[in-house]
Amino acid sequence: MPTLSSRAGRATLGLLMLTLSALAVVVAATSTPVRAADPVTVLTSSFEDGTGQGWARRGTVELVENSTAVAHAGTRSLLTSGRTASWNGPSRDLLTTVTRGTRYTYSVWARAAAGAGSVQLRMSVERRWQGTASYEQVVNSTTVTDGGWTQLTGGYTLANDADFFAVYVETVSGTASFHIDDFSLSYLPPSPIQTDIPSLKTVFANDFPIGAAVGRPQLLAERGQLLAKHFNSVTAGNAMKWDATEPTEGVFNYTDADAIVAFARANGMKVRGHTFVWHNQTPAWVFNDANGQPMTATPANKTLLLARLEAHIRAVGGRYAADVSAWDVVNEVIDENQSDGLRRSTWYTITGLDYIRTAFRVARQVAPNAKLFINDYNTNVQAKRDKLYNLVASLKAEGVPIDGVGHQQHGNISWPTGAETDSMIATFIPLGVEQQITEMDTSIYTSSSESFTTPPADRLASQAARYKAWFDVYRKYKANITSVTLWGLADDETWLDSYPVSRKDFPLLFDVQLQAKPAYWAVIGAASPTATGPASPSPSPSRSPSPSPSVSPSASASPSPSASRSPSASPSPSVSPSPSGSGSPVSCRVKYTVTNQWNSGFQGDVVVTNTGPAAVNGWALRWTFANGQVVNQSWSSVYAQSGANVTITNAAWNGTIGANGGTASFGFLSSWSGTNTAPAAFTLNGNACALG
Ligand code: XIL
Repeated sequence: MPTLSSRAGRATLGLLMLTLSALAVVVAATSTPVRAADPVTVLTSSFEDGTGQGWARRGTVELVENSTAVAHAGTRSLLTSGRTASWNGPSRDLLTTVTRGTRYTYSVWARAAAGAGSVQLRMSVERRWQGTASYEQVVNSTTVTDGGWTQLTGGYTLANDADFFAVYVETVSGTASFHIDDFSLSYLPPSPIQTDIPSLKTVFANDFPIGAAVGRPQLLAERGQLLAKHFNSVTAGNAMKWDATEPTEGVFNYTDADAIVAFARANGMKVRGHTFVWHNQTPAWVFNDANGQPMTATPANKTLLLARLEAHIRAVGGRYAADVSAWDVVNEVIDENQSDGLRRSTWYTITGLDYIRTAFRVARQVAPNAKLFINDYNTNVQAKRDKLYNLVASLKAEGVPIDGVGHQQHGNISWPTGAETDSMIATFIPLGVEQQITEMDTSIYTSSSESFTTPPADRLASQAARYKAWFDVYRKYKANITSVTLWGLADDETWLDSYPVSRKDFPLLFDVQLQAKPAYWAVIGAASPTATGPASPSPSPSRSPSPSPSVSPSASASPSPSASRSPSASPSPSVSPSPSGSGSPVSCRVKYTVTNQWNSGFQGDVVVTNTGPAAVNGWALRWTFANGQVVNQSWSSVYAQSGANVTITNAAWNGTIGANGGTASFGFLSSWSGTNTAPAAFTLNGNACALG
């Protein structure tokens, strides 16, 4: 089946999914504001009742039927056989089940039918709106066999209008029979965004616009709020690419790009256009000759290809001429391993350098107010940037209207260094071009063989240091850098979940629950309230007795970057447990629940009830783990651990626990192995609490 956009096909593994392989779904009691963190399951299909439970065939001939041949759990599954096309398979209508804007985790167990051997399956969704269908992958091609069950799991947000919406399982090719079982559809209730932390766009107001690459899901609900709060520039991660805008010759689709531009307009954001010319995400028809065959290098094909390029840029560039302030006119055209430095893409083999000349010339005509960029990755590598430098220098000498160089800056926790980034910027200054950081992210991995389901604290600390080193360089060169963009909004959805291999990655400034990470605090020049390293389990009693917002209001409101980044504006862990408990005795009750547990980790939810007659202002809850468990993330709270001793202090907004039954709730993720005994005792500001 055709795929109009691969954005949502970036399957999200990891935290979301693991927390969903839950033994039980428990909705925790909550304080105000609600920051529930337990996954909620909205649909399961076990097929144990002997029916298809709403699953039906997509085609007209295949058989989709309840089966007792094999079962993932229990005695039954759903078998699809008699398929005549790879897209035949079981499908489940979800139109009235899902909520638009909510990211759901889709999980199903699959197995090839007996004798079918090894089969490649994938899970996708079909959405239709007013007669037009779109297909998006939720789980990429996954090998399943007839010898056991394999889980397919991924995330997807329905963000478009739809009058039909269904999930389905199909083979990548061939017509093998297969079983599915134990489907589940779940979501993690969104956390409110932190409104009391400095907005990145305010912190960098005197430096450069700060942007994020987004799709439609990032415009909605909490994600839209996070985008509007922190960013004053936006890039369409996929929606302006050729496969999205002109999937068929002369047939343009601006649905998603228009939505992103409208959001930018409504929120006063700049728009970066990405991208007119790339060797990826370009439909096959573009490179087919007049007879529909792949082009060979002939004069006629060169003329045809350049005409298509011109028509495409006239249409897309013209449509957004009033909105896009910078276009990545060409993307990734350098190959430093070629002596001439030019990537041997089809663009190049058919047209030589003329595709670049044409693209810039036409872009300047139709979008005269946009700055025109040549964009590439690994410009931190000298060999690469030297080739790019030479190309830009010679094209500019010819009069090709190149305004700037875009540095993608996809990196990881150990690369590139600040020094390499400094050289990257410094190199291009003599060319007199603008420079923009266009696609920054920082993978927590340094090799393809690593994989974590939750980000280890030391990786997050390294990531924070890496981000800080880069931002230090950007600020140093703020006279030359006219925009800095992150390739994504938050860790809940990143292209690195499937590139270079499928695994969960955590490369951005906000975590999977949209909360600020150590990297966020590092780039604004403040100490992270969830800082790692040697833990300081006992918040200093000398701190202000009122739970302060993470950063002083004057710092966050100040447009002065030096003020906002000065260490004196550093957020203090917003706790002051000791003073609060000193006036009257605190009495308390603690309910500690393991809401999810998997082979190496678990999720805990804790409700603290103040059973005393006085409000508690600022709190620290302490316990000791008996089996070596180590907390590695928390929400609605700040965690620290020293040896087996865990200290959880309040977040900025839930420091007060009302008298006579007021509650505060928080959640955390922790590692465990062997045994996972719940703590036997808790203290709140030093006072022992009752259990339960
Ligand atoms: C990525 C998108 O984020 C993915 O959703 C898509 O599947 C592949 O492309 N360099 C670029 C971007 O210039 O366009 C790429 O975006 C990431 C690498």
